[in-house]
Amino acid sequence: MFARLAGTGHFLPEDVLTNAELERRVDTSDTWIRERTGIRERRVCGPDESVVSMATEAAKRALNAANLPAEQLDLIVVATTSADRAFPSAACEVQHALGITDTPAFDVAAACSGFLFAMSVSEKYIVSGAAKHVLVIGSDALTRMCNPDDRNTIILFGDGAGAAVFSAAEEPGILSTHIYSAGEFASLLGADHPTRSDEALQQEAWLYMRGREVFKVAVEKLAELVEHTLAHHNMAASELDWLIPHQANYRIIQATARKLNMPMSQVVMTLEKTGNTSAASVPIALDMAIRDGRIQPGQTLLLEAFGGGFAWGSALIRY
Ligand code: ACO
Repeated sequence: MFARLAGTGHFLPEDVLTNAELERRVDTSDTWIRERTGIRERRVCGPDESVVSMATEAAKRALNAANLPAEQLDLIVVATTSADRAFPSAACEVQHALGITDTPAFDVAAACSGFLFAMSVSEKYIVSGAAKHVLVIGSDALTRMCNPDDRNTIILFGDGAGAAVFSAAEEPGILSTHIYSAGEFASLLGADHPTRSDEALQQEAWLYMRGREVFKVAVEKLAELVEHTLAHHNMAASELDWLIPHQANYRIIQATARKLNMPMSQVVMTLEKTGNTSAASVPIALDMAIRDGRIQPGQTLLLEAFGGGFAWGSALIRY
């Protein structure tokens, strides 16, 4: 039994935050942001939007694309680290918003790599026969966790959600998933939970990042990761049709593409208009490239992400 991608969807809030607007808020420039990251603008949740509302919209679009009624889902997994509530889980709230009940639903926390981790868990459910149809969502609103005065972080992040339905099939599908974590890097990237009781801690609860150090480890781990993933299948990089990377920084993505000897024309890029949407970034990119016809049936896709934890992961998919 294999897990096959049956449908995808994404949702981005309407509010656009441009580099020009950020220039007015903090000491930065459009040129600096574009040259260092590749980002021009990002979307930001409005007051009535949330991780759950974005996730629900993306989920409806994915279910629609898969032509699957929500009642037929056996499992819902939401990858997020920025939901409004610690519990109930965002997944339980999405389940309710989809008008269904009883379906097991839970969240996975692996920051920017959350979607890959959630996919990995879901694949195991399908391959073992425990589930036939799984809804996997990445949804994050990290703009809400960034100190509005911190130019190191607010330039990077955007809000959004992406979703995919995976279904049991005789043919692959997901060829493999690979996930890794290294907790020793916690001081380089993270966000304290706002419910921590110490008042001083609450003041410092904004997302923190030592960008240059994160950058260095990200490039190194992603190079190892893509190499391992291909070696696992005895596959050459030239057999890949598309690289669908986490959209954190153009230079990180370029380094991974270079490692694979892939031209940037085979790399799905969204970050110019979305910024880093954390767990949502890979499924948003996947959905955009499926909907605009770049990704075609039978093609081989390499998905990868790196983020807070550190946590990083990949998936090789035959579409
Ligand atoms: N505007 C203008 N200048 C700035 C800004 C800004 N927004 N931010 C920093 N600078 C300045 C710095 O103060 C520094 O000045 P100095 O040389 O006088 O000290 C200079 O620009 C260079 O700063 P660096 O931090 O070295 O810049 P770098 O080239 O590393 O780019 C960036 C910073 C874009 C954050 C990069 O390090 C990066 O992308 N890191 C990885 C981010 C990432 O992948 N995160 C993981 C995913 S997130 C998650 O999991 C939630």
